Amino acid sequence: MSIFSFKDADALGSVISVDTAAVIIRVDDLDCLKRLQVNRLVVLQSSKAGQHLIGVVVKITRKPDDRAIAAGVPEDGDEIAEPNENNLVRITLIGTLLDKVGEAKNVFRRTLETVPEIEANCFSLEGETLTSFMQVISNVEIDGPKLSLGTFTLDDDAVAYLNGNKLFQRHAVIVGSTGSGKSWTTARLLDQIAALPQANTVLFDIHGEYRPLKGDAFQHFRIAGPADIEKQTGIDDGVLHLPYWLLGYEALVAMFVDRSDQNAPNQSMVMTRAITEAKQATLGDPQYKEILDNFTIDSPVPFAIDAVLANLNELNTQMVPGARSGSEKQGDYHGKLSRLISRLEAKRADRRLAFLFQPPAPCMEMGWLENMVHRLVAGRGAQDGKTGGIKVVDFSEVPSDVLPLMVSLLAQIIFSTAIWTKSAQRHPIAILCDEAHLYIPERAQADSGDSVAVEIFERIAKEGRKYGIGLVVISQRPSEVNRTVLSQCNNVIAMRLTNGDDQSVIKRLLPDSLGSFGELLPVLDVGEALVVGDASLLPTRIRIAEPESKPDSQTVAFWDEWNSQDAKSDTANAIKSWRRQSAGD
Ligand SMILES: Nc1ncnc2c1ncn2[C@@H]1O[C@H](COP(=O)(O)OP(=O)(O)O)[C@@H](O)[C@H]1O
Ligand SMILES: [Mg+2]
Repeated sequence: MSIFSFKDADALGSVISVDTAAVIIRVDDLDCLKRLQVNRLVVLQSSKAGQHLIGVVVKITRKPDDRAIAAGVPEDGDEIAEPNENNLVRITLIGTLLDKVGEAKNVFRRTLETVPEIEANCFSLEGETLTSFMQVISNVEIDGPKLSLGTFTLDDDAVAYLNGNKLFQRHAVIVGSTGSGKSWTTARLLDQIAALPQANTVLFDIHGEYRPLKGDAFQHFRIAGPADIEKQTGIDDGVLHLPYWLLGYEALVAMFVDRSDQNAPNQSMVMTRAITEAKQATLGDPQYKEILDNFTIDSPVPFAIDAVLANLNELNTQMVPGARSGSEKQGDYHGKLSRLISRLEAKRADRRLAFLFQPPAPCMEMGWLENMVHRLVAGRGAQDGKTGGIKVVDFSEVPSDVLPLMVSLLAQIIFSTAIWTKSAQRHPIAILCDEAHLYIPERAQADSGDSVAVEIFERIAKEGRKYGIGLVVISQRPSEVNRTVLSQCNNVIAMRLTNGDDQSVIKRLLPDSLGSFGELLPVLDVGEALVVGDASLLPTRIRIAEPESKPDSQTVAFWDEWNSQDAKSDTANAIKSWRRQSAGD
């Protein structure tokens, strides 16, 4: 059955002019005209049975009838007649709804197979009819699990559905100026994911904003801070260490070797050799023979950093036999590794980097990685019951200079695990990257931590689909997010965006035919979004529903707070936390 059952009496008006995709409707009833708004959807009768044309209102004008103008201004004393008016609505046709195509019912196509005839009726698309139409265009099964972020701005009776498969298959971006509602939208999306028994998502939470998200579906991790060193807490307490041995070659070089040093190439080479030897030492046990045979510098194998340091120190001070018998000369690397060694020692001793260099003993065992990866990438049903499938990883205690390396390390672990999982056993996972401009930057210095991170995310953006990894890039500065990654995102959830550079980046992601839709970006309300892409065939303006548990708002009500009767101060604790580098309890 067709989702449209319009009666002629419900018509808003009828067609008076057609010019390919542009149609003009004359509306006689002023009340009907008032109900219409720009960007609303309308349905037009098609000349073919079983088809309807869908259009979007682009302009509404109310002007006097030309004939009335031609008749001239009434002279004094003439009875003033009720002026005739021409109420015109300009519509752009955007597609066709076919009642039936083969076996399929209610199929929407973004093509125009016919044009409307003169006098064809035009109807408003609203309420339940709009909801059903949305289900059709997002390809949502009527009784299947639904993904809905909210309702239409122009019609809050109509629920806006998205296609949950398509949203994650070809990646998505959530953008908007600070305070426009990105975090709430993310939380709302997570609410919807949380309802699914095999939910599987990792959220990179850079400021610890998502701590309040509660429920069986959620599992919270915090990257260990300085205060966790003595406590010897581990993954079972929700404290995640990222021991240095997980870092790949590029990341190790970015971290330890100063590219501006003239000895940099030597340092990289010697470090690689020392780490390779140290990892091989771990694999000395016969049970690891197979791993050893296929070993590379990037293999995730624990090694003793002390052994590496000792090795480097030895080379740095080495004397070798000289040309004359009995004489000695400096070895090839004598004195050339000093800066590398001091960087390594400084990082190792840095309490802010304790999660990397001072891991508790269990993190140094081969088996630890399996446990950690399982907690991170297994879906809800495969977790051991007490933990959920939505994994929120709090990076708030990670220093900003190593943030790109650390976030991308987790992304890399998720990606590598997916690659090495047999496709029949692979469970799809979505990676949600909040504040993505901080670690997937557009401008990254060569060989820096930034460029290592960008490379990993670019790879996931390009190849993730094949391995069941969906990326959701969330940022207030889309113009500062890597363009390659952004251009791979086929779904855009754009909230209010005021900066011109950011707007133009997002407008470029919108399909050409939607040019004017982008003009709405700066005027959207808080919590309002334009949604365009694979997951929704037609661009829609949605009011995002409130999430069940709300992220910690970063929005402070200055005036209200200043007007409050209660004094608020906690400097002593702030200084204490600052000194021990942990907000702690
Ligand atoms: N969908 C919404 N409905 C109502 N209020 C919202 C909505 N989204 C955001 N807000 C308001 O805006 C504030 C900022 O939202 P937030 O998601 O933290 O913004 P962002 O992450 O874009 O900086 C919230 O604290 C809330 O008060
Ligand atoms: Mg936010």
